[in-house]
Amino acid sequence: MKEQPPSAGSKKDNKNFFRQTWVEVDKSDFHFNLKKIKEYLKKDTKILAVIKSNGYGHGGVELAKEAVKAGVYGIAVSSIEEGIQFRKAGIKTNLLVFGVPYPIDNLSVSVYWDLIPTLTNLHDIQYLASLAKKLGKTLEFHLKIDTGMGRIGVSPQDSYNILQKIAEMPEVKMAGIYTHFAVADSDLSYTQNQLEIFHDITRYAKKLGLRFIAHVANTAALISNKKTHFDMVRPGIGLYGLTPFDHAHKMLKLKPVLSWKTRIINLKRVSAGFCVSYGRTFVTNKASVIATLPVGYADGYSRVLSNKGDVLVRGKRCPIAGRITMDSMMVDVTGIKGVSLGDEVVLIGMQGKEKIKAEELAKLQNTINYEVTCSISMRVPRIVV
Ligand SMILES: Cc1ncc(COP(=O)(O)O)c(C=O)c1O
Repeated sequence: MKEQPPSAGSKKDNKNFFRQTWVEVDKSDFHFNLKKIKEYLKKDTKILAVIKSNGYGHGGVELAKEAVKAGVYGIAVSSIEEGIQFRKAGIKTNLLVFGVPYPIDNLSVSVYWDLIPTLTNLHDIQYLASLAKKLGKTLEFHLKIDTGMGRIGVSPQDSYNILQKIAEMPEVKMAGIYTHFAVADSDLSYTQNQLEIFHDITRYAKKLGLRFIAHVANTAALISNKKTHFDMVRPGIGLYGLTPFDHAHKMLKLKPVLSWKTRIINLKRVSAGFCVSYGRTFVTNKASVIATLPVGYADGYSRVLSNKGDVLVRGKRCPIAGRITMDSMMVDVTGIKGVSLGDEVVLIGMQGKEKIKAEELAKLQNTINYEVTCSISMRVPRIVV
């Protein structure tokens, strides 16, 4: 019999990986955020948990299961692939696909896996109706209106005509109608205009006798304007405890769900004049201690943070020394008492009293917190704690 290769880590702490870089996702914080959001809404307002793009990098399947346990109305995914992944993992709730079914024969795959498509034109709705006829059952979809985001959706002008046609099609059911805000985090009057356009359209749809769930609010909108709640809200970033705009946490206190950790795998004491990493952009000006971490830009830790970001070691901030490389980076741990090989290092999260937020890294990278967590690459194991 062939000998089994030795396995990594210990089963006890769930760390079955060799390379010492991982993400921890705290499911109790995720439930805390969902509960906080629920309490912020009217009793019968539904929640569509946006767990697309691998749950904003947090690990989609595990959090989708938690959202189902919390009793959400459904989950939004980006693509048919993500929907299939959730179905295969045994997730049975409503799954709305945000992306349009292009090419259109993707719709039959979507129907097979019981995913709810987003449709944005009459041709696609008619195609769904023809599938429904073949299968001898009613098929559901959500209609998306472009009230000012300029991404996908029926234009407001065309929507009235399309709604009339939908009202005459018994094979399909418009289970939902929605739109998306462009500046819910920053421009109240533009958002108000989008809201009014959407209101007019839903009023007209109701007059036609259509019955549906209307939804518009992302996290920024749901926090800042209760008039956007309609029948259902669609929080994404808030579920993960990240903030959609600077002062959002003052209005609704949420807890960051993700921590990103690694360990010191090499430690050296060097004298003044020692060069660190490609380009020799960091040179020690005194006797120093330099630690190497097994995390680099191939893990999604942006190279832009070279010589800019901090990490936490033994509860203290330590600066990144030199350029971040593909698979590793160095940090200056000079003066950190007791620093040792194998020490746990925090890239995002808390250690002792210190904290590094995704928002801090986003600012340094001139981007948004969404991109920071979404960029953590698939090779970084996600552990639910
Ligand atoms: C259509 C739609 N609704 C809701 C959301 C959730 O937005 P947020 O993460 O800002 O709450 C997104 C996110 O991109 C989206 O595309």
